[in-house]
Amino acid sequence: MMISLLLLFVCVSVCPVQTLDNGLAMTPTMGWLHWERFLCNTDCENDPNNCIREELYMQMADVMVKEGWLEAGYEYVCIDDCWPHHQRDAQGRLQADPKRFPSGIKKLADYIHSKGLKFGIYADVGSMTCAGYPGSLGFYEQDAKTFAEWGVDLLKFDGCYMKDWTMLEAGYKNMSRALNQTGRSILYSCEWPLYEWQYRQPNYTEIRKTCNHWRNYADVYDSWSSIQSIVDWTASHQKLLVPVAGPGGWNDPDMLVIGNFGLSHDQQQSQMALWAIMAAPLLMSNDLRDICPKSKALLQNRRIIAISQDPLGRQGCQIGKVNSFDVWERPLAKGGLALAIVNRQELGGPRGFPLVLGTLPSWQVCDPKCNVTQILPTYQELGVHSVNSTLLFKINPSGTALVTLTYIKEF
Ligand SMILES: *[C@@H]1O[C@H](CO)[C@@H](O)[C@H](O)[C@H]1NC(C)=O
Ligand SMILES: *[C@@H]1O[C@H](CO)[C@@H](O)[C@H](O)[C@H]1NC(C)=O
Ligand SMILES: *[C@@H]1O[C@H](CO)[C@@H](O)[C@H](O)[C@H]1NC(C)=O
Ligand SMILES: *[C@@H]1O[C@H](CO)[C@@H](O)[C@H](O)[C@H]1NC(C)=O
Ligand SMILES: *[C@@H]1O[C@H](CO)[C@@H](O)[C@H](O)[C@H]1NC(C)=O
Repeated sequence: MMISLLLLFVCVSVCPVQTLDNGLAMTPTMGWLHWERFLCNTDCENDPNNCIREELYMQMADVMVKEGWLEAGYEYVCIDDCWPHHQRDAQGRLQADPKRFPSGIKKLADYIHSKGLKFGIYADVGSMTCAGYPGSLGFYEQDAKTFAEWGVDLLKFDGCYMKDWTMLEAGYKNMSRALNQTGRSILYSCEWPLYEWQYRQPNYTEIRKTCNHWRNYADVYDSWSSIQSIVDWTASHQKLLVPVAGPGGWNDPDMLVIGNFGLSHDQQQSQMALWAIMAAPLLMSNDLRDICPKSKALLQNRRIIAISQDPLGRQGCQIGKVNSFDVWERPLAKGGLALAIVNRQELGGPRGFPLVLGTLPSWQVCDPKCNVTQILPTYQELGVHSVNSTLLFKINPSGTALVTLTYIKEF
C-alpha cells in the first residue's frame, strides 16, 4: 500500500532579520524552569519538598550537575513567579520572600554559579506579576540593576497586568534597554506576542530586535491535548514564525513537560522531537530529583539535542498532513535534514508510514545519495538511500518517528 505524501508547504528560507545584540541564545536556550511542575506552591510548612524556596533550586542545581544534565547542555536553573516578597524594600527594590529565600537571591545565584550553571529569574512588565507579586512597571531600570547585581543570567519577563496593551511594546523595549545598560549579559525571555495576539498580529521584526525568545501562545499543561494545541497553532502560523527564528532569537512554545504525569512515553518522544524540530528553547519543568530513567534518557538524548542545537539555527516547519500523519522537516547545517513524522490517530496500534524520499520538498539531500538514521522511536541506522527509496516507519498512536538525512556527495 502506497500513500503519496501531499506536500503543502516548503520551508521558507530565512530573511536576515536584525537580532537583539547581546551575544546570547545563539542556539535555543537549555535549562530548567519551575513553573509547570511547581506552580505557585508557597506552602512550605505542609509541602517543604515542593514549595518555591531556595532549597528547590539548590537541589535541582545539584542534580543537574550530578546526573549529567549540565553535561547534556541543560545550563540554566530558572525561578518563575512567586519568589518575591509582597512589598518592595524601603529603597523601592524587589526583594525575595524572606521566609522562603532567607539567604537572598544573590547567595542563591552564587550557589548556582559555583556549580557551573546559570541562573534565571522572573518578573513582569506590568504593575503585578500574574500571581499578584510586585510588577516592574515604573521600575524597569531599578529592577534590571538589581538583577545584574544579584548575578542574574536570564530574565523571564511576563505580561500580566499591563494597564493598556498598547504599552506592551514600549514596556518590553524599555526593559530590554535597561538590561543592556547594566552591562551584564542577561538573556531576555519575553511574552510580548502572547499578550499582544489578543488585540492584533505582533510585529515580529520588532520582537526579534528586543528579545532572545518570545512566547506566542498559551501556557503548556501536562497533557497531550496541550502539546497538540501548541504544535497545531505553531504549524498554522509558521509562515509568520519560521522566518523570524534564528541565532539570537527564537519562538518559544513553552516548557518541556517530559518526566511528569500527563504524557505517555510515545507522547514524551513526540514533544522532544517536535521541540527540537521547532528550534524551541528546551526548558524542562519537572522534578529532576525523581524522574523515570526513560524520560531522563529521552531528555538527555544527544542526537535529539544535536538537532535542537544545530548551528544553522533554522526553525523547522510542517510540510504536510496525510492520513492522520503530520510530517515536519528542519534543515540542518552541512545540507542535512531532520524529519519528524507524527501519528495523530489516537486509535488502534502502530501504523506504517511509507516515505518516498523523492517527494520531500528537500529531496535534494538524497541526490545522489543520503545516509538515513532513525533516532526515535528507537535508534537505527537505515543505511544509504537515493531519491527513489521508500522507507517504511512504524509509528505508535501519538508517537513520532524522528530521522536525520545526511547528504552524501560521492558514492
Ligand atoms: C548592548 O547593546 C550593544 C549594541 O546595541 C551591544 O554592542 C552590547 O554588547 C550590549 N551589551 C550587553 C551587555 O548586552
Ligand atoms: C518607555 O520609555 C520611554 C522613554 O523613556 C517613556 O516615554 C515611556 O513612558 C516608557 N514606557 C513604559 C511602558 O515604560
Ligand atoms: C514592523 O516594524 C518594522 C520596523 O522594525 C517596520 O519596518 C515594519 O513596517 C513593521 N511591520 C508592520 C506590519 O507594521
Ligand atoms: C551513516 O550514519 C551513521 C550514524 O551516524 C554512521 O555510523 C555511518 O558511518 C554513516 N554511513 C555513511 C555511509 O556515511
Ligand atoms: C531513480 O529512478 C529513475 C526512474 O526509474 C531512474 O532513471 C534513476 O536512475 C533512479 N535513480 C537512482 C539514484 O537510482
